[in-house]
Amino acid sequence: MALDPPTFLKAINVLPNPEAIAERAAQNLSQLVRVVSRRGQKATVALSGGSTPKILFKILADKYAEKIDWNQLEIFFGDERSVPPDHPDSNFKTATDLWLSRVPIPEDQVHRMEAEADDLDGAAQRYEDVIRERVTVNPNGNPVFDLIWLGMGGDGHTASLFPGTEALHETQRMVVGNEVPQLQTQRMTFTYPLLNASSHVQFLVTGKEKAPIIKEISEGQGEYPSGEVAPTYGALEWLIDEAAAAEL
Ligand code: 6PG
Repeated sequence: MALDPPTFLKAINVLPNPEAIAERAAQNLSQLVRVVSRRGQKATVALSGGSTPKILFKILADKYAEKIDWNQLEIFFGDERSVPPDHPDSNFKTATDLWLSRVPIPEDQVHRMEAEADDLDGAAQRYEDVIRERVTVNPNGNPVFDLIWLGMGGDGHTASLFPGTEALHETQRMVVGNEVPQLQTQRMTFTYPLLNASSHVQFLVTGKEKAPIIKEISEGQGEYPSGEVAPTYGALEWLIDEAAAAEL
């Protein structure tokens, strides 16, 4: 029996500022790895991109390098830009420079999206294959991440699920290439079926510019991609700072 997806309002936590958000998320990761490794498994986590998680990545490298057993973690990316791994816009580069290159996580446990591939769909399929190899699959056949971090853009997008784009309608594939006309680019992104299979989706959203959409989503208004994420069995949590919560 599918549980009713938790509503946004039941799952919102407001913290003072971006540093507090990052500290809480880092604590959550540390506890997750500890608990999951007791089961003899590796924790499977997908990272959000953009600028919000940069503080989190720095804290994980600066304060958790000795606190987390990095052998017990599989890192994926929830979306990626169509740029090579050394490009400043690369989500992989951001996470690697600020965090992953500064902790002893085995290289084959960090999985980069090859979103710059000419055959983007083929690359997305290959990424989904790796997810299916490394992430526990539920009875519906969907991989269940232990934790997926998501951000929210100023237009309400999340991962690279942008308003009005094809990937919003994907019901079978876990990972797809997505044309984003409003940015005149293409991206690789997790789809709703993969996001909604997760054990725990944690939105990390900060800043006053996000407040109006946070308010609309909390009232069930608008059809923003971020507002459509509703894990079937897992926990949906919004970690937002006081600036982003200003209109609640
Ligand atoms: C990306 C992200 C995207 C991001 C939001 C918020 O690749 O850009 O995955 O979904 O989380 O755009 O970005 P900021 O944190 O920079 O506001």
